[in-house]
Amino acid sequence: MNDMTTFDVEKIRRDFPIFAREVHGKPLAFLDSGASAQKPQVVIDTMRRAYLETYANVHRGVHYLSQVSTELYEGARETIRAHMNAASVEEIIFTKNATESINLVANSYGWANLKPGDEIILSTLEHHSNIVPWQLIAEKTGAVVKAVPIDAHGEFMLDKYLDMLGPKTKIVAVTHISNAIGTITPVKEIIDAAHDAGAVVLIDGSQAAPHMKLDMQALDADFYVFTGHKVFGPTGIGVLYGKAEMLEALPPFLGGGDMIERVTFAKTTYAKGHSKFEAGTPPIVQAIGLGAAIDYVNAIGFEKIGAHEQALLAYATEQLQSINSLRIIGQAKHKAAIISFTLDGVHPHDIGTIVDRGGVAIRVGHHCAQPLMDHFDVAATARASMALYNNRADVDALVASVKSVQEIFG
Ligand code: ALA
Repeated sequence: MNDMTTFDVEKIRRDFPIFAREVHGKPLAFLDSGASAQKPQVVIDTMRRAYLETYANVHRGVHYLSQVSTELYEGARETIRAHMNAASVEEIIFTKNATESINLVANSYGWANLKPGDEIILSTLEHHSNIVPWQLIAEKTGAVVKAVPIDAHGEFMLDKYLDMLGPKTKIVAVTHISNAIGTITPVKEIIDAAHDAGAVVLIDGSQAAPHMKLDMQALDADFYVFTGHKVFGPTGIGVLYGKAEMLEALPPFLGGGDMIERVTFAKTTYAKGHSKFEAGTPPIVQAIGLGAAIDYVNAIGFEKIGAHEQALLAYATEQLQSINSLRIIGQAKHKAAIISFTLDGVHPHDIGTIVDRGGVAIRVGHHCAQPLMDHFDVAATARASMALYNNRADVDALVASVKSVQEIFG
């Protein structure tokens, strides 16, 4: 665990066992944390202990291990609540990932509240996981999906958004940070304006959670989602925050064990709070692992993490811009440490394959954001996404290998 007063990236790297290995005989420059982040030893150890020493199902047993397991699982919920500054643990629902969290809201809230002609407002920045669930529910209810445009830099166009809001707007669902180009959206303004228009708001915080402190009470979103694996936790665990009064009014999404109060063949009544939305055996050890990941980042502190990443983003942007024929896609004023780029005459898949030979891991493709790619008139980009453990050597390795791509393609 890091308990440092200054930010020491080399010390942080030693917390992540993966950095002890090489790839293709080169030091690993892992610049794909936007897709999934590496795991610190403490998360691996915590999950290992949960399986080795305390494992049993939760909420179901009077026996010792079930009680310990339940305490650890519910303890992780409290860790997430405190981290998000949610008012109550009842507002924290564990899901499989951010995608499931969004599908839950689209199906539960959307199905109960949308009628023909109602409008769901998204943005051009959205990941497919914050588009497709809304399209599916729109098809079933007759609601209409609209997207707020972005400008040439990849900025969310607040003025256009305000013009789009109206009495038909029922739901606004917008990303906090674009996974593909790093734009940080003006979430507070988006939420306040949606509320003034009488709409509910869901914010997709999948890319925000690894980079910034979250504060549900200050933001005032109705729903906020993120996924565990991008914030240094395991896969198979996601979070849905929902305001208590919203959750109370929502019908369940999945039915099954643990989400009921009483079942008869004539009628079933449901559990209250988060339990209503956690049908079946939950991802017990994954939740405990996510709690350890959140404790880990908070021990370092998001102020320091943010400052480190912003310095690295500035350095990487400057270095990459010095490469002839490299075009950075998305240059918003407020950006997270994510850089998408193209190289004239080279397919992004070739960039990804060649830089991989230099030990550099980046993602190439449409990043599950095809409408955003259409906006920039590209089919795909190469994307370097950084996290707290990246250093200048990672950026230097990327820049050197991109230069070698340029040499290969003349
Ligand atoms: N949504 C993840 C990404 O941006 C997988 O790469």
